[in-house]
Amino acid sequence: MVTRLSPEPTAQLAAEDVYTNISFPTRETRPYVLINMISSLDGKVAVSGKAGSLGGPVDRTVMRTLRAHADAVMVGAGTLRAEKLTLAIPEDRARARKARGLKPQPLAVVATATGGVPLEENLLGPSPDNLLIFASAETPQEHLGTLSTYASVEVVPEEKTTTPEMAGLSRTDRSASRLDLGQALETLKKRHAVDVLLVEGGPALNHALVSSGLADELFLTLAPKLLGGDDLYATPTVLGGPPIGCQKAQPRLISVHFADNELFLRYTLRLRSQAR
Ligand SMILES: NC(=O)c1ccc[n+]([C@@H]2O[C@H](COP(=O)([O-])OP(=O)(O)OC[C@H]3O[C@@H](n4cnc5c(N)ncnc54)[C@H](OP(=O)(O)O)[C@@H]3O)[C@@H](O)[C@H]2O)c1
Repeated sequence: MVTRLSPEPTAQLAAEDVYTNISFPTRETRPYVLINMISSLDGKVAVSGKAGSLGGPVDRTVMRTLRAHADAVMVGAGTLRAEKLTLAIPEDRARARKARGLKPQPLAVVATATGGVPLEENLLGPSPDNLLIFASAETPQEHLGTLSTYASVEVVPEEKTTTPEMAGLSRTDRSASRLDLGQALETLKKRHAVDVLLVEGGPALNHALVSSGLADELFLTLAPKLLGGDDLYATPTVLGGPPIGCQKAQPRLISVHFADNELFLRYTLRLRSQAR
């Protein structure tokens, strides 16, 4: 059982019922964007480079509920390089979606600029017609060719802005290129009818969305774990990137659930009037 602590009154509910009845506003030009992450008490989002062992059974149930609300579920390529994962929901939830007139499975989406994504090895489940890769015109052709045998590929521009650290470096010297996520989100809305997008990390993708003002809500599970790390900055946290201005996100806590020593927090990140 899960205890809802806020909003009051406090109530007991089954894990399957957490977030079951929530709904999201529709945006005109892009999907409404949810980020779902799990973090240890000391703020780390991976153990030895992987996130899979952080959450308990209630966390996994809540994650599937959020997926079931989404038209598409997206991860950055780094998350897929880290471990095997699925972005799908179980059969019973797929049937329930179908009964509501939705596609049984949300569209699985991966963002990559390099194109070096181990789709076949690490992404479990989606058929090629339900898997979309965002790449760029600068993604090497041989990667584009390989990716298109497993998925649809949408090419979007790379970000025009560079961080101060990246300015002055040639493209090949930059360790990471970035897709223009504003364009990617518009494409999801216009060409794939995605009204609600769930982003399941990782830190670099989260940071890019939040710092561009493109993330609407953060669902954060606090796992009762203390992890430390070899190097103060080596273990990833929820947002991986340079400091962001406090205008970009103004988190407001809207609900708190508790079960098995885990806390489930839901925040809105943007005032509606600010949202692009
Ligand atoms: N605890 C959790 O909830 C959770 C969730 C997810 C991941 N994680 C952990 O996070 C770690 C991976 O972190 P990460 O930051 O490398 O992963 P990430 O954010 O999933 O992936 C970053 C990659 O996404 C691609 N990308 C394309 N456009 C981008 C843009 N505009 N901004 C940012 N990225 C863009 C790039 O791929 P290319 O390099 O291919 O161009 C980039 O290197 C792993 O240890 C994983 O276990 C934890």
